[in-house]
Amino acid sequence: MWAGRFSGKPDKLMQEFSQSVSFDQRLWREDIQGSLAYAAELQRIGILTEQELADIRKGFEQITREIESGKFEWKVELEDVHMNIESRLTEIIGDAGKKLHTGRSRNDQVATDFRLWCKNRTVEVYAAVSTLFHNIRDRAEEHIDVVIPAYTHLQRAMPTRMAHHLLAYCKMLYRDAYYLDVEAGLECIAEAPLGSGACTGNSFGVDMQRIADDLELGPASRNSMDAVSNRDFALDLVYACAKCMTHLSRISEDLILWSTAEFGFITLGDAVTTGSSIMPQKRNPDACELIRGKTGRVVGHLMALFTLLKGLPMTYNRDLQEDKEAVFDATDQTLACLRVMALVFSKENFKVNRERIQQQLDSGAGYMEAMNVADWLVLQGVPFRDGHDITGRLVKYVEQKGIRFADLTAEDLQAVDKRLKPELLKELSLEALVERKQVYAGTAKARVLERLAELKQWLGKDNDQ
Ligand code: ARG
Repeated sequence: MWAGRFSGKPDKLMQEFSQSVSFDQRLWREDIQGSLAYAAELQRIGILTEQELADIRKGFEQITREIESGKFEWKVELEDVHMNIESRLTEIIGDAGKKLHTGRSRNDQVATDFRLWCKNRTVEVYAAVSTLFHNIRDRAEEHIDVVIPAYTHLQRAMPTRMAHHLLAYCKMLYRDAYYLDVEAGLECIAEAPLGSGACTGNSFGVDMQRIADDLELGPASRNSMDAVSNRDFALDLVYACAKCMTHLSRISEDLILWSTAEFGFITLGDAVTTGSSIMPQKRNPDACELIRGKTGRVVGHLMALFTLLKGLPMTYNRDLQEDKEAVFDATDQTLACLRVMALVFSKENFKVNRERIQQQLDSGAGYMEAMNVADWLVLQGVPFRDGHDITGRLVKYVEQKGIRFADLTAEDLQAVDKRLKPELLKELSLEALVERKQVYAGTAKARVLERLAELKQWLGKDNDQ
């Protein structure tokens, strides 16, 4: 392509080192789409004849067939996806192919292709988030009456509904979808750089907005120098992935704990667990562990991108070729994890052990009933700080006696403090405590059902599934 100015060829080692076609061939559809839009504009401004444009379109149809059928020969010596496709076009249609690159640079070409690719990817990741969101919401609805401990510091804190706990995951995923849609999606990806040339624009009078409209990518870039050097859209997409993976990792950690013999709240199905090659009794939560493990890798890609960009002078620098593998792998891993997590939360694989949970609650461990006492005292007019102290003494009493809250008698209450009246005994259940949280974001059944109903409409279930 640039043989005119050179008398020697690149060293084989250099060729292998600088090629990107082995990975950027994933951009081939977007590359052709961008070239078609650019060719149409070249025809409108008189650089290409109608016949030449028709030839280019036919050539690209053939190339599409060749790539789809695996017959296209990708050549390392042609460096990247852009030169491979352009060179094949010229092979097929001759001189018209050579005119296509008039006023265009691989710099505005790759910026356009990569934006188009990221835009499509964003839609895919969004759909996968939505599917997982709705699976979790459905499981929450099925288990609305299951009460489990809520933890702080990984110590039993208060009783909650499993549904309420699961809907917390839905909120995390909702934020992920929102970010993908609004921040990563519309604002940053949507911009059409074609016409920016190498860095200062196009001398042949192409109308950037017409090209932008053709690509349905967004408004034309306003500054050609920014257009060819900006990769904020890649950062935003990988940030969205890293945040989403962080959420999936936290969810994984809960599920791993919940499926231990110590918790025993759930059993994960055969389809998402594995056995051990030595211990026949084992059922390992590998799906969740791998998701947790891959999170570090995706966060790493975000750091790689930041580091790649932070020292670059304006405008395009070849360093930018390193952006693609980070984005490809970050989105590949995130999509795979979202899909596997959706499988984990399918009806068949997410099995809740109601009896085991009940046994755990009946054991009285953690004294979660104590909050009932403090609340009751407040309603009797005892200042909360005094109620806290009285309740603390009751917990100490129960602990020293080696009994559960459920075993307390009227005499026990009186022995601790005269203000603990016998009628308190019937207020001590965990269910009563869950139901008293009637606040908008609380655990009362009516509130959780309201939230469940709202979430059903969220993330356009009907469109995305
Ligand atoms: N493969 C290159 C990349 O991904 C395409 C742009 C090359 N531009 C250049 N001036 N060498 O960044």
